[in-house]
Amino acid sequence: MAIDTTIYVKPHSGISAYLDWLQMLTGAGLILFMWSHMMLVASVNLGVGVMNTIAHFFEATYMAQVGGPMIGLTFLVHFALAARKIPYRTKEQSTMWKHSKMLHHKDTWLWVVQAVTAMVILILGSIHMWTVLTDLPITAEKSAARIQGGFWLVFYLILLPMVELHVGIGFYRIAVKWGFIKRKTRKGFEGFENILTAIFILIGLVTLWRFMIIDV
Ligand code: HEM
Repeated sequence: MAIDTTIYVKPHSGISAYLDWLQMLTGAGLILFMWSHMMLVASVNLGVGVMNTIAHFFEATYMAQVGGPMIGLTFLVHFALAARKIPYRTKEQSTMWKHSKMLHHKDTWLWVVQAVTAMVILILGSIHMWTVLTDLPITAEKSAARIQGGFWLVFYLILLPMVELHVGIGFYRIAVKWGFIKRKTRKGFEGFENILTAIFILIGLVTLWRFMIIDV
């Protein structure tokens, strides 16, 4: 009797490519949001009145009330899509760790940093958004009082570097993966990206210090 040795391969549905696109698009949207968010919060360095005027504009036009929850939703969708690739089982994690050490490949390590920072951002970012959006309107005095309380200062000192690392690496990975930078220009882009990340962390630290010295 002849044995059928044909290997049946399930045809690809293409759905995973669409999900990859959506992951990239939501990630790019969140990167743009985080850059704008830092500029808006850092406006307090130009004066308490400047931040309050901008915050008032966002609330009077309902951008905070509608845009805020939309950012929250994008944040969750982005996490759900990226979670498809994060190793959760101990066995998967130890394999990932072994491969990272074995490959001596910087981008593999960057991916590990992305997965770890993602977990911290998921928890702290959700708490932060809930706290701010359920306590509108945003004012520089309220933000300063929160930060001067101490708890939120420590909270932001953890969240700030996590977010900036995640955003910086994400931006670099999007550019590599979707071909915006080539092998030749990769090194230069990496340098630019590191400086950009350092600048954002610095602006964030100066802003926290500014909140600390506002009279509340
Ligand atoms: C949904 C819309 C959001 C609003 C309306 C918002 C608003 C604010 C406000 C008013 C502050 C000043 C501090 C305070 O009042 O406690 C702040 C700081 C901060 N936010 Fe957000 N935020 C949003 C989303 C996010 C997200 C998604 C992240 C990252 C996951 C984030 C990360 C941070 C960080 C790191 C700081 C400290 C900035 C610094 O170092 O000066 N925020 N945000």
